[in-house]
Amino acid sequence: MKIGIIGAGNIGGNLTRRLTALGHDVAVANSRGPQTLTDLAKETGATPVTAEEAARDAEIVVVTVPLKAVPDLPSGILDGAADGMVVIDTNNYYPQQRDGRIAAIEDEGLTESRWVERGLGHPVVKAFNGTYAQDILDRPLPAGDPGRIALPVAGDDAAAKAKVRALIDQLGFDTVDAGGVDDSWRQQPGTPVYGLRAGVEAVTEALAAASPRRPEEFRGLVSPHQPR
Ligand SMILES: NC(=O)c1ccc[n+]([C@@H]2O[C@H](COP(=O)([O-])OP(=O)(O)OC[C@H]3O[C@@H](n4cnc5c(N)ncnc54)[C@H](OP(=O)(O)O)[C@@H]3O)[C@@H](O)[C@H]2O)c1
Repeated sequence: MKIGIIGAGNIGGNLTRRLTALGHDVAVANSRGPQTLTDLAKETGATPVTAEEAARDAEIVVVTVPLKAVPDLPSGILDGAADGMVVIDTNNYYPQQRDGRIAAIEDEGLTESRWVERGLGHPVVKAFNGTYAQDILDRPLPAGDPGRIALPVAGDDAAAKAKVRALIDQLGFDTVDAGGVDDSWRQQPGTPVYGLRAGVEAVTEALAAASPRRPEEFRGLVSPHQPR
């Protein structure tokens, strides 16, 4: 499959490694330009491109950048993709460490992925957001192995979600259907499933045990000088 990856850090880099190893045709981009991705390209055979080129003819596009960067991605970044292209959103909201306070998430109560969809102007399937980047390289197992890790996958479109789940299976992980994007708070940072290395049953239980209340450490700080 032709796959575009926007973001070449911990997650984007390791997805590039594994997806090329599986024989996919991967185009990968970062913010500084393809000339800074020559080592990754040499290592994996992926094609380094600008962010604007990453989605070209792609069936799947992975957006894996710091969450706050999503609305600043060039407009039309998904133009030129294949018909029915599916976007995978791996991103997490870290207001205190990285992203700053995002009012639409905190005040309107949008799930992180719904906010990403707004920024991209395209539906997403949420996956990998609670997966340690190193596990993508170190923990794939064949289907049926009792130690296989399961990843929650949320998305509104059944066909798009099925496509992402099939790709994750190829990558060596089981999946659990975590519902639609409005349900995806169940797999956001601070929930029981976030960072959980476990199989289908335990992941299903962890999703069910989630609380809709965002933990304090994952809330944005309101400046005392800011009107509430
Ligand atoms: N690290 C993990 O284990 C992990 C696990 C699950 C989910 N996540 C989530 O997945 C996302 C990516 O995490 P990460 O750890 O891979 O991040 P990272 O290592 O910081 O890498 C971020 C990548 O995004 C690129 N980028 C930033 N702004 C961009 C822009 N405007 N256009 C194109 N590329 C841009 C950066 O390019 P430059 O280097 O050129 O700036 C870099 O390649 C985050 O939202 C994170 O919360 C991370």
